[in-house]
Amino acid sequence: MNISYGKQSISSNDIRSVVKVLKSDFLTTGPKILDFENKLKKFMGSKFCITVSNGTAALHLVGLVEKWGKDDLILTTPISFLASANCAMYNNAKIDFIDIDEDTYTLNVKKLEKKLKVKKNVKAVIAVDYAGHPCNWKKLKALSKKYNFKLINDNCHAIGAKYFNRYDYAIKYADYVTHSYHPVKNITTGEGGAIFTNIKKSNEKLKILRNHGMLRNKNMINYTINEIGYNYRLTDIQCALGISQLARLKSFIKKRRIIAAKYDNFFKKYNFVKIPKEKKSCTHSYHLYPLQINFKKLSIDKKKLISIFRKNNIFLQVHYFPIHLQPYFKKKFKFQVGDCIVAENFYKNEISLPIYPDLRSKDQNKIIGIFKKIFKKHSIINDEI
Ligand SMILES: Cc1ncc(COP(=O)(O)O)c(C=O)c1O
Repeated sequence: MNISYGKQSISSNDIRSVVKVLKSDFLTTGPKILDFENKLKKFMGSKFCITVSNGTAALHLVGLVEKWGKDDLILTTPISFLASANCAMYNNAKIDFIDIDEDTYTLNVKKLEKKLKVKKNVKAVIAVDYAGHPCNWKKLKALSKKYNFKLINDNCHAIGAKYFNRYDYAIKYADYVTHSYHPVKNITTGEGGAIFTNIKKSNEKLKILRNHGMLRNKNMINYTINEIGYNYRLTDIQCALGISQLARLKSFIKKRRIIAAKYDNFFKKYNFVKIPKEKKSCTHSYHLYPLQINFKKLSIDKKKLISIFRKNNIFLQVHYFPIHLQPYFKKKFKFQVGDCIVAENFYKNEISLPIYPDLRSKDQNKIIGIFKKIFKKHSIINDEI
């Protein structure tokens, strides 16, 4: 059996919920959409929720509803999935990257303020609760007021995380919060996503934009469009799975945290590795377990280490190659090596270890056992405390 860095957990109740919809009248645009949106809204504490076909669509539509354009600058972190930056491209805006914090691996708020002092056209900041650790949202909110930009929480990793002991923290600080329900995320709908906002006008517009831009006339037969939208709808089949998964979210997070604690317990003995930190104000949701290894202190490189695990059918991952160094962004915006030095070093050292609710204890023991062997063979003996 293969072990990957992330995987869905599907129960018989999840399956029953989906099958029920398959036997019903509506496979899409039916009652499960509103049901899922209402449940998500309640959990996230937002006034409005708009489900969409994936997390990338969610970010695209936020840019569209906020009317980003060629004179606008969007700031984000280089340590995220491409979608956090691509959404600026879809909306013909400019992008720039803010280096990450050494401890939380989220956007560095001091470096952000430095940039805000010199750039006057910042329309939005997309901060990512990387791996499941919330950003410094209090400071981000204060900056958004001071420098007048919209704040977006790309919350795809942090579904079920807490900030100051609250699950519903995200919308308290951000103008828009986006989710992805891809199978590796903390809950899944296969593919899927959602946008949360408290802005009534945006909610109305987003609902139209996710459905081709269509405005139904009163007779529900004719329609008009004033603006181009997309087919970014989620189906009732997916929403039924989402409802069932959301009910399991807290137990998923509990399991993820148990797995993380076991890794922490093992790795903290070694001074050439750095385990993910959790600030006192935060409860990490451990979508990822990003481990930093000082490969210079081990006589083995990252590629070799990954290949040893692969031979044991364990598929580690790296999250992420810094986005500003992707050839597309380098060429278009003249970004260079050294622009975000903390992020670049983080990438060199980072590997994501398997973490998901159904990861068996014996499989985690196997992973730890392989590390033990590698560390014994390749490390300087005195480095083990
Ligand atoms: C931080 C982040 N933002 C956005 C996305 C995009 O979500 P999706 O794959 O549902 O389009 C992802 C998915 O990997 C993500 O991790």
